[in-house]
Amino acid sequence: MKSMYFWSPSVNFKIINGELRIERFNYGKKGAEFFPELYYYTQDGTELSELKERFPENKRAFLNNLIKDLIKKKILVNSILSPKELFYSQKKIFNDDHDEDMRFVKEKLEEFKLLQTERHVVTGDTSYILANTELPPIVEKRCSVREFSSDPVSYSDLSYILSCLKNKPADHTRYYPSAGGLATLDIYVHIKEGRVEGIDAGLYYYDPVLNSLVLADDGKMISSEAHYITNRDIYEGSAFTVYFVYNGQASMPKYGGMAYFYGIMECGIIISLLTAAGEKKGIGNCCIGDMYYEKILPCFKLKDDQVLLHSMEFGKKR
Ligand SMILES: Cc1cc2nc3c(=O)[nH]c(=O)nc-3n(C[C@H](O)[C@H](O)[C@H](O)COP(=O)(O)O)c2cc1C
Repeated sequence: MKSMYFWSPSVNFKIINGELRIERFNYGKKGAEFFPELYYYTQDGTELSELKERFPENKRAFLNNLIKDLIKKKILVNSILSPKELFYSQKKIFNDDHDEDMRFVKEKLEEFKLLQTERHVVTGDTSYILANTELPPIVEKRCSVREFSSDPVSYSDLSYILSCLKNKPADHTRYYPSAGGLATLDIYVHIKEGRVEGIDAGLYYYDPVLNSLVLADDGKMISSEAHYITNRDIYEGSAFTVYFVYNGQASMPKYGGMAYFYGIMECGIIISLLTAAGEKKGIGNCCIGDMYYEKILPCFKLKDDQVLLHSMEFGKKR
């Protein structure tokens, strides 16, 4: 574990009526006694022991608890943020004059979707209507699959899909692009009991060098409980899940903070690749944008600067 702690760049604090408010948490007047100094000391990172010594001894008991809580709430952090933590602050800045109901009322959401998918961002007198050509079947037929056949996926079909992620035998490049060729995503695959022929249930790490699945954990902690209600049936019916983990160690030394952004792009590219390979074998998938990652994280045993980004549920099409 790294010992330097930083104030999360996504988090704001305020003092209102003498009380410390950090986002939606209220640390009262006692908390306010440490601000703004605690914020300044942690902006560029500090050891916890050093931080504590900066405040008078008679305040240390409260300070210890405060620091513990700030760490628990990911306000003080010692490794890179998850996408949720990193991006949620953007909502504040976004100029949102939309009807809030849109998120909760089905008809309003459909109306909103139609408006977005039919938008013309640029209009003008000069335009060319493109030829209405036939699309490649993989593109034409692809759609998200949320209900799967209960038939197990064969070993060879799973191999066909995942082998797209292996190292090329001739050199150490891959079959998909990545910033600087650093292939910064680590892939984990959760196989359900009896759902992939010849592979026992468990959470596996996909090793791209050996093109193998290596058991990382029994994966028993992974269940539909970790999913939002709307996604539970998709998870229940799938044969296996692919998890995408961004590994900061693989690309941040070269690209700094932008490496994280490139890693997210790489994730999208791999999603397309796995989808295309699956289409060839009648294996469908559904991307899962978000879930209660904290419920399954312990079984991944991730190192500092590895972050779970995304997952996809796979299974045979009906
Ligand atoms: C980043 C991302 C997150 C998604 N999250 C979910 C999800 O949580 N649940 C779900 O049912 N579909 C999810 N989807 C699938 C979209 O809902 C789907 O692609 C969209 O409705 C268009 O339908 P189609 O894929 O069948 O063309 C996600 C897709 C993407 C790319």
